[in-house]
Amino acid sequence: MPTHTDQRRAAWTPRDLEHDHEWIYELPPAATKHLGVMIKGMRVPDRDLLDYRQDEFDLGPSKPIIASAMREAKHGRGMALLRGLPREGLEEGEFELLTWAIGLHFGVSRPQGKASHYMSAVRNVGTDYRSSTGRGYSSNAKLDFHTDSADIVGLSCYNKARSGGESMVTSSLAAYEWMEAKDHKSIKHLHEPVHFSRQSEQAPGQAASYPHPIFDTKDGLRFSRWNRNRVVAAQKLEGVPPIEAEHFATLERFDELLRSPELMFKMYLEPGDLQILNSHVNLHARTDFDDHEEFAQRRLLFRLWLATPDSVDLPESWRAGYGEVAAGAVRGGILAQSYDERRKAFDRRQAVAVGMRHTG
Ligand SMILES: [Fe+2]
Repeated sequence: MPTHTDQRRAAWTPRDLEHDHEWIYELPPAATKHLGVMIKGMRVPDRDLLDYRQDEFDLGPSKPIIASAMREAKHGRGMALLRGLPREGLEEGEFELLTWAIGLHFGVSRPQGKASHYMSAVRNVGTDYRSSTGRGYSSNAKLDFHTDSADIVGLSCYNKARSGGESMVTSSLAAYEWMEAKDHKSIKHLHEPVHFSRQSEQAPGQAASYPHPIFDTKDGLRFSRWNRNRVVAAQKLEGVPPIEAEHFATLERFDELLRSPELMFKMYLEPGDLQILNSHVNLHARTDFDDHEEFAQRRLLFRLWLATPDSVDLPESWRAGYGEVAAGAVRGGILAQSYDERRKAFDRRQAVAVGMRHTG
């Protein structure tokens, strides 16, 4: 049975976090050292991430601590910060593999875009975020508040930027409560579906956009999904119904609210940090950044999207975005255009490894 999620703790404000550090987990030096030594011997150049198996990686004393951080993200505050992943002495590829190994222990990684890739290097390669195919993770732009397309997002930090690139998180549940209290008449618009663009990453047979509400409920729990960039982009697609002015004005007010100091929490990820976010109860963004000249020193995060065994049922309205809505299902991700037999085989094998149901 899925663990009951107490959403009171997920409806936090930055003031609550000032006094509560329970969502921050620090690996003790011995655990960090164990991970560093373990991962050093594991990387085989040219071996694809999809070919590594969970039982090849021993997370040692870190495992129960990472499990607690995951639990906090899934059923507590909705986010967690794990500090102390080994960074010194690890090459980029080794740090990436360590991030991947954590994913293998806690869920089924999901594909993240056009190439159906299961790990994204979040690094500025000059992408235009605002174009019709734009994705934020490959640009250095300031990103709008948004939700990624998976239950859980893990972001591990290998390098930080020279300046900027600050991570912002706002509890979508707290923002909803604010709207309910202060802008009650508008709240209905947050339950009405609007089209989200797939940014040209649709799988064969999928439409270029799909309707989705910003908020919905299931079994007494509230869920949110929002991505201004994708909603605005969808308005330019053929056949997408225009959003009425009053409706759009509500979405804009909601979006603005997310950056109010009473609701928005800001933090810098340091090398060796892993940020874990529950997509359904919070929204995140990032400031723009200036990078180092030297390529090897440039800002670099590794992003993992996970479906997890103890997930809860999603609202039916989530089906268009997640494929499956049942608790504990392998769901979410952007299957896109290269979701082939190899990837399907990985999903099936990994579902068995973590005890999940896979129907694909
Ligand atoms: Fe994101």
